[in-house]
Amino acid sequence: MLLSYDYDVIIGKHNDISHHKKGSYNQSTLWRPSSWKDFPIEQNPHYPDKCALEYFQNNIHNHPPLVLASEIRSFKNILSSVTEGKAFILQGGDCAESFNNCQSTVIRDFMFTFNQMAGLISQATHLPVIKIGRIAGQYAKPRSNSFETQNGIELPSFRGEIINGADFSEKSRTPDPQRMLSAYHYSSATLNLIRAINTSDPTEYQSRLNIKVYPGSTEQTHYMSFLEDLYKTANYLSQKENAIKPMYISHEALLLPYEEAMTRKDSKDNKWYNCSAHMVWVGERTRDLKKAHIEYLRGIENPIGIKCGPNITSDTLLKLIKKLNPSQEKGKIVIIIRMGTGVIKQKLPALIKSIQSSREFVIWMIDPMHGNTKNAKEGYKTRYFTDITDEMIQFIHILKEAGVHPGGVHLEMTGLDVTECTGGIPEISEEDISYRYQSLCDPRLNRMQSLEIAYLLGKNWN
Ligand code: PEP
Ligand code: CO
Repeated sequence: MLLSYDYDVIIGKHNDISHHKKGSYNQSTLWRPSSWKDFPIEQNPHYPDKCALEYFQNNIHNHPPLVLASEIRSFKNILSSVTEGKAFILQGGDCAESFNNCQSTVIRDFMFTFNQMAGLISQATHLPVIKIGRIAGQYAKPRSNSFETQNGIELPSFRGEIINGADFSEKSRTPDPQRMLSAYHYSSATLNLIRAINTSDPTEYQSRLNIKVYPGSTEQTHYMSFLEDLYKTANYLSQKENAIKPMYISHEALLLPYEEAMTRKDSKDNKWYNCSAHMVWVGERTRDLKKAHIEYLRGIENPIGIKCGPNITSDTLLKLIKKLNPSQEKGKIVIIIRMGTGVIKQKLPALIKSIQSSREFVIWMIDPMHGNTKNAKEGYKTRYFTDITDEMIQFIHILKEAGVHPGGVHLEMTGLDVTECTGGIPEISEEDISYRYQSLCDPRLNRMQSLEIAYLLGKNWN
């Protein structure tokens, strides 16, 4: 349910909103949390009620930060150890979080699975694992098509619950700025539980192994004993020191009115921080150097992920790095490769070479999900487990061959037993997909597939 607020009264402007003409900025022009408004923008929802948009922006701006500037500073410091090859990042969570899934069991099972994965990876790599959830704010989605047509009716595409609703009706699909405030509160409730679990005794929140058999999968006995062993090991390891370090939060900085409202100047260093997450990333579709998202991101202190698909050039990537990290801070830039299993081998080595010769400090991560999306029967999107693991393993080999540290993996996953990606040990088949397909957007690895990925990562590390 959305929160209901009266927005008749517009309370004063925030963040010193400036009024330059479009395109009048260049790199040296003064940055403001709102200076992105002076640039062309991709993926921008059309809000019919501009007054309401401004009201909710102001309202959110007056709410407390979700994350403190001091936390972001120390997080960046922790990330700098990945630049030096001394740690590994596990980043993951839903493609699109849903308000409905802001439930204790869903969050707990995700964290539980994540901790188990961290345990397995840490043991195999001999590195501490930094855990970053795609959680507590991952509510906005970029879409390839602005409109969707069903039975001859055309409506705006679903863009994530911070913007509009997934139901195919005009009311639901109309962007509603009040959803930004709901998203803030759902993020806050989610983060509250994350922080509580972060500091609680891990042996207190055990969960039992519950092996699922899907209608089209092989018999349980084929994989039962392997999973039981894996689960026991992961369970044990997740409770060891390396895996119980705190989980940080991240999301795509897509909906700029919300990101702007959560941007605060810290009194200690007079710098600007996006206080809605420890880390944010820019997506493949919004990372244009001359457009609004990069303008916004160049002004904040948070570590920034840059999603890189198969078409990015070395030149663009270098320009992005220089623009987002002019002072060459370590732990600031995370390059998230998502090229697809058939392409990574051709494209990645050249990118690595040019960054190496530029002497920029970056963290290299692999998102083996977004380059490997396929259409299955009945309109479902899926991903084959083998494509995901292939791209991840190729990434590790390519980086190691170049003498560069493979810094982490970025996954779309859940602690639930969904049937969205095919394959894995339980052999989820195309026929099984509809059985428990619950994602609001892209297909996620389920709990067992997530553990298996962590296991395979470790197995292929050396
Ligand atoms: C995502 O991470 O959900 C996403 C949309 O990624 P990309 O921008 O890389 O397509
Ligand atoms: Co996605």
